[in-house]
Amino acid sequence: MILVTGAAGFIGANFVLDWLAQSDEPVVNLDKLTYAGNLQSLASLQGDPRHQFVHGDIGDRTLIDRLLSEHQPRAIVNFAAESHVDRSIHGPEDFIQTNVVGTFHLLESVRAYWSGLDETAKAAFRFLHVSTDEVYGTLGATDPAFTENNPYEPNSPYSASKAASDHLVRAYHHTYGLPVLTTNCSNNYGPYHFPEKLIPLMIVNALAGKPLPVYGDGMQIRDWLFVKDHCSAIRRVLEAGTPGETYNVGGWNEKPNIEIVRTVCALLDEMSPRADGKGYAEQVTYVKDRPGHDRRYAIDATKIHRELGWKPAETFETGIRKTVRWYLDNQAWVQQVQSGEYRQWIDQQYGTKA
Ligand code: NAD
Ligand code: DAU
Repeated sequence: MILVTGAAGFIGANFVLDWLAQSDEPVVNLDKLTYAGNLQSLASLQGDPRHQFVHGDIGDRTLIDRLLSEHQPRAIVNFAAESHVDRSIHGPEDFIQTNVVGTFHLLESVRAYWSGLDETAKAAFRFLHVSTDEVYGTLGATDPAFTENNPYEPNSPYSASKAASDHLVRAYHHTYGLPVLTTNCSNNYGPYHFPEKLIPLMIVNALAGKPLPVYGDGMQIRDWLFVKDHCSAIRRVLEAGTPGETYNVGGWNEKPNIEIVRTVCALLDEMSPRADGKGYAEQVTYVKDRPGHDRRYAIDATKIHRELGWKPAETFETGIRKTVRWYLDNQAWVQQVQSGEYRQWIDQQYGTKA
């Protein structure tokens, strides 16, 4: 079996759903259920003996030691993290606690467990750490895309905490020989994305008749990847990646934020037109920029293609259409995650503007 952490979140939930759609290998899902964790995303697995949920923290050594000895996983996929850049600006502490200290404790428990395995199990074991392109910092307009050799230059408390965790993972390989794999992925989008992030926020605000808050001039560039493609990349790295290596994962799909917002508006105009006949783009509102806002991210995903044969299956056009459709068809999920805490965050971040 495999142990997946943070699998009640956006990417982890998609990963577990895809994993169990393709294999019968059981998954133990350890998640703290922060505001971003939502078991509703895994409702289709209710009663499925291949999925076991455990409520807990990656920093809880006693719990992790017990889970490892009880389930004897052949691999761990670590998604658990605080993931939202804006929240890290308002309050970095949780990011340090989970992303840095939590990853450290998890690595310590895993090291002890792995050291006790027999030689065959030891060689076959993998610890896959899911990281981000944000650790590389920001690119100028004409810079080449990030390769695995770019220096780490994180600019937000979020990316700094992820960079720190990547360094710890790397050190556990070099020092102790732990068979680790690290993936650094670009911006994901798709089903079950928490509506504090750009694309789902725009969809839910548009439908609610609220402003669509675009930071600064809206010309910041991100490299968008449909979440299922990220999941297939992780499965492929887990299966065939070389321990100690890092793999960049991206969609070859750079777009400025304002173009993303306009595309979402156009799809909503087509699939769920406004009652007054006007376009959703009328709701776009430029707001104060994010402090320290990285201007451009772009991933060079040549290595994972060349060495492991992975490439994305979805184009942005097909992926974004599926995503907007999913939000229209799953409004109950959206309402359920828009709890009191969600409302509080929106008020703190956008005041009366959203
Ligand atoms: P998310 O915020 O949607 O989910 C994170 C999950 O981790 C939640 O279910 C939360 O409850 C859980 N969690 C938080 N702290 C925990 C702790 N201490 N112990 C156990 N569980 C804990 O995040 P996401 O967007 O699904 O991202 C998953 C991972 O992928 C993160 O490590 C993130 O850095 C990385 N990543 C995300 C993206 C993206 O575009 N979303 C891109 C590249 C990499
Ligand atoms: O690049 C990978 C990263 O992508 C992941 O590591 C992070 O976990 C994930 O949250 C994401 O980070 P971003 O900061 O790029 O994503 P976010 O959706 O918050 O913002 C995307 C862009 O849109 C960014 O340039 C900021 C802008 N933005 C965002 C929000 C929420 C707006 O203009 N308005 C908004 O209201």
